[in-house]
Amino acid sequence: MTQEIWTATDEYINRFFVPSDAALDAALASSASAGLPNIQVSPAQGKMLHILARLVGARNILELGALGGYSGIWMARALPPGGKLLTLEASEKHAEVANANYARAGLNDVIELRLGKALDLLPQVAAERRGPFDMIFLDANKSDMPEYFDWAVKLSRRGSVIVADNSISRGRVLDANSDDPDVQGCRRFHERVAADKRVSATEIQTVGVKGWDSFTLIAVLTDPS
Ligand code: SAH
Ligand code: DHB
Ligand code: MG
Repeated sequence: MTQEIWTATDEYINRFFVPSDAALDAALASSASAGLPNIQVSPAQGKMLHILARLVGARNILELGALGGYSGIWMARALPPGGKLLTLEASEKHAEVANANYARAGLNDVIELRLGKALDLLPQVAAERRGPFDMIFLDANKSDMPEYFDWAVKLSRRGSVIVADNSISRGRVLDANSDDPDVQGCRRFHERVAADKRVSATEIQTVGVKGWDSFTLIAVLTDPS
């Protein structure tokens, strides 16, 4: 009953603010038929990422965790001409689906997907001076969240926004004794963000089509030293 009404209310919201869209619908359909997990951001969250990118005037966006490309398409569509989105994805299968979806959305020249584990790729991204990124979306595995946060700040500028998905693990984050590495990753992530004077952060719990979830919103206050 609860999930039903959350889903129905998301559908109600979508009817106002998130009209159906051929490329995004195709991205969801092809992800599903390829057997990818159904864990992409919700349509309304995708629109929120899009709006945030516009609000910060993002020209250069970094994403960790592409899956089938759904969130990437939402963010890339907020970019001005010449803007770029770099996304890091560890799964070859997910990367293949995502690249096909970027192409179908006409975003081949805007989105660059690099295949590999984010922690292996991020040092290269930094060495290439591919940053600073105006917006960074942390949505890969949760066990490395504290390290992803460190990299995100390093690759930011004053005024960048960092968004992190799914950091409360449906309340499991309260369990200090959890033996789940994802839960422990999220716990250390919160401790690290809270202690970092270079950023100001909050976290909003959400309900909707994905159940009970959250997103963390982090403003970078200083240029990297
Ligand atoms: N951002 C996507 C959802 C990402 S799901 C969307 O909303 O549309 C998480 C993704 O992170 C999966 O595709 C998974 O393969 C990828 N992933 C898991 N571990 C990773 C790692 N170490 N480095 C990069 N990507 C990883
Ligand atoms: C789940 C959801 C996500 O958005 C994600 O990035 C990873 C996992 C989940 O519901 O399991
Ligand atoms: Mg997520």
